[in-house]
Amino acid sequence: MEELRFEGRVAIITGAGGGLGRAHALTLAHRGASVLVNDLGGALDGSGSSASAAQRVVEEIIAFGGVAAPNHDSVATAEGGEAIVQSALDAFGRVDVLINNAGILRDKAFHKMDATMIDQVLDVHLKGALYVSQPAFRLMREQGYGRIVNTSSASGLFGNFGQANYGAAKAGLAGLTRVLALEGFEHGIKVNAIAPIALTRMTEGILGDLAPKVSPESVSPLVAYLANEECAVNGNIYSVAGGRIARIFVAETVGVVLSQNTPEAVAAQISLIDQLDPARLHEPSSLDNETTIIAKALSEAS
Ligand SMILES: NC(=O)c1ccc[n+]([C@@H]2O[C@H](COP(=O)([O-])OP(=O)(O)OC[C@H]3O[C@@H](n4cnc5c(N)ncnc54)[C@H](O)[C@@H]3O)[C@@H](O)[C@H]2O)c1
Repeated sequence: MEELRFEGRVAIITGAGGGLGRAHALTLAHRGASVLVNDLGGALDGSGSSASAAQRVVEEIIAFGGVAAPNHDSVATAEGGEAIVQSALDAFGRVDVLINNAGILRDKAFHKMDATMIDQVLDVHLKGALYVSQPAFRLMREQGYGRIVNTSSASGLFGNFGQANYGAAKAGLAGLTRVLALEGFEHGIKVNAIAPIALTRMTEGILGDLAPKVSPESVSPLVAYLANEECAVNGNIYSVAGGRIARIFVAETVGVVLSQNTPEAVAAQISLIDQLDPARLHEPSSLDNETTIIAKALSEAS
């Protein structure tokens, strides 16, 4: 198969001053993309800022003959999102790819979590992706081409103790991915998401034996595929770690139509409602599609 290249393509990668974002930036730049390396350069908890994180990655890219420019705006405000996209336009004249990757952690058991911890995490992960995606999406729509890759997490899709703020934001990114995939499709825009596991400052000391097997670089090939013109999928979410890739999907059981719609009937049938029959799972492609499935079940039962 021909090498997947990015000549003439401009990619914005948020939070690309370290960890996964840096790995994605180097991978796309190696394959010919002009990369806007965005990073606020703060600590893992979102405090502080520094221009050096993004600058260092830009220098790495330029050192191997790649093309990159730095940006230090925060994704966490609408103005920041606009400024990031404008930076890419100023440096390279267009935007073809957006990888929403910037992130922070403010972990705490839910009963002890304060409002600041909730706001900051939702602002960076969820609102940040909305704020940067919107100006980028408008440009992509006009030019009839775009690729967006969102960074979700197993924490939001499967659950993780101590991450109510982060998990809610990351599940929100799955929803954003599904909606933008539908809205963008007719305009040549494909939107997918990853739920990665990789050894970065975010996961230092918690991955145990997995740590040496899950480099950030091992996540970037999937991201490069999803960001490439050849990407054949839209609205999908992938678990990715150390070269293992699997699709995560939202599906529903075949369900039941209650003959008597009472709480007692629900109690009597809850096991049947929950019963997982892989051959009869529905994976709705949209809300409209799910409505059709419901209508069919109700009419068959009547
Ligand atoms: N490492 C993992 O195992 C893992 C698992 C699931 C999801 N993720 C997600 O992957 C993404 C990358 O995380 P990482 O593990 O590389 O951690 P990281 O801390 O190395 O990278 C996050 C980057 O985002 C930057 N950033 C933070 N707030 C920002 C803001 N407001 N504006 C711009 N940049 C900002 C940080 O400076 C940092 O460089 C995050 O969204 C994270 O939630 C990581």
